[in-house]
Amino acid sequence: MNSILFVCLGNICRSPIAEGVARKLIEEGGHTITVDSAGTGSWHVDEPPCEHSVTVARKNGVDISSLRARQVQKNDFRSFDLIVALDTSNYRDLKALGCQNLVKLGDYGHNGADVPDPYFFEGFEGFETVYAMIESCVKELINR
Ligand code: 4NP
Repeated sequence: MNSILFVCLGNICRSPIAEGVARKLIEEGGHTITVDSAGTGSWHVDEPPCEHSVTVARKNGVDISSLRARQVQKNDFRSFDLIVALDTSNYRDLKALGCQNLVKLGDYGHNGADVPDPYFFEGFEGFETVYAMIESCVKELINR
């Protein structure tokens, strides 16, 4: 597998964390895998990741501040070897667009569980939980 695309709803909270964690692990492990992230929605296109995601990533030594949101495109399904949905809703939306090479991030060590959408969380705390789950799954995916 040479390329992975992480996809959530807005591409500002969860999938940028997954991209940042994956980049770090790829660099540390000397892997040659390309990673990117995108959202199924277009509301936040060109925006940086949300403040709490930037903060929780930075606390863990991952800088995601320069990432910018984009919407997933059908040609991504050909460009990337593997498309990784952050939750079941993202998975269904991607399937409906015709994506075949599709898994859920929670398939990697979390029995297919959804990564909770932190967009409407109050405060920072939930982001620590979301980060820990994403990191655990991405480690399993990259180092497998
Ligand atoms: P994400 O979070 O999918 O993890 O980036 C969200 C970001 C924006 C919205 C929902 C979820 N929104 O409704 O705009």
